[in-house]
Amino acid sequence: MRHLLTLADLSSEEIGGLLALAEKLKRQHRRGGNRPLLAGQVLAMLFQKPSLRTRVSFEVGMEHLGGHGLYLAPAEVGLGVRESAADVARVLSRYAQGIMARVFKHSDLEIMAAHASVPIINGLSDYDHPCQVMADLLTLREHLGIDFRRQQLVFIGDGYNMANGLLFGASKIGLNIVVATPDAYKPSSEVMARTMEYAEESGARVRWTTDPHEALHEADVVYTDVWTSMGQEAENEVRRRAFRDYQLNAALMKSAPTRVLIMHCLPAHRGEEITDEVADAPNSIVFDQAENRLHAQKAILAWLMGGVKLPGVPQSRVTGSA
Ligand code: CP
Ligand code: NVA
Repeated sequence: MRHLLTLADLSSEEIGGLLALAEKLKRQHRRGGNRPLLAGQVLAMLFQKPSLRTRVSFEVGMEHLGGHGLYLAPAEVGLGVRESAADVARVLSRYAQGIMARVFKHSDLEIMAAHASVPIINGLSDYDHPCQVMADLLTLREHLGIDFRRQQLVFIGDGYNMANGLLFGASKIGLNIVVATPDAYKPSSEVMARTMEYAEESGARVRWTTDPHEALHEADVVYTDVWTSMGQEAENEVRRRAFRDYQLNAALMKSAPTRVLIMHCLPAHRGEEITDEVADAPNSIVFDQAENRLHAQKAILAWLMGGVKLPGVPQSRVTGSA
């Protein structure tokens, strides 16, 4: 049984296979609907933090595949407070065929994966947001074509969960990536070391800088995320000062080629990390990203819970096809 806690868990072939399956499910859905690959199955959806996209796209995705998404709100379960993460995983495994969890501490996901008898899917932790990154890669493939590898993605902002996920995803598939953050908010040395290891294999060029203008010179795509993530609200003022020069605004965008695509995982704190002018520019693809959460996650669900084969990936436990 496989889990998806971080993009680092997937091989580059599996990432490619999931993208191909997502495209197939998206086409199929538009032509009249998907097959009930997860008929009778339940995905327990456990949230320690608020959500719009993750909750709705997983719930709708389960519906499209003939199953059901069961929403468990932050106040209900009390993960690690009312009950240990290990026991929550053991109990949910008796009711549901998969568990998607949005947690504060990534280590809680690791504990759940160690004790669950069903797949655990990371719906955002302090370490990674793999489902968002899969949707982002799908979006890039649609906009830049199958050969979007070798192009340059520039992430500007906080070296936190989104930056980590993009570093892993890009370096695995051979997409060049530049991360521009203030020195105090750079990705950890552990994340950079893993990224370099994957880049060595894929041929991706990876670098970190503190200069957002210089980072953008050869950008094909620019990506940003909030400066104050969920759970960091007490640091809001300090962060606003630290990231002041990292706002995606018209002045900073002058450093980028005019054709650059603009990405954001959303929710955006408009007026902080991105201005309206940039978020709503004609080359902004932020809502395509949001839509693709649905299609990318359906591929993840069909693979992990439905045993569906990933195109181009040899598998031993194949039980069906989409
Ligand atoms: N991008 C994302 O995960 O959005 P939500 O926090 O609304 O789920
Ligand atoms: N970095 C943000 C991402 C939200 C999707 C957060 O953790 O709140």
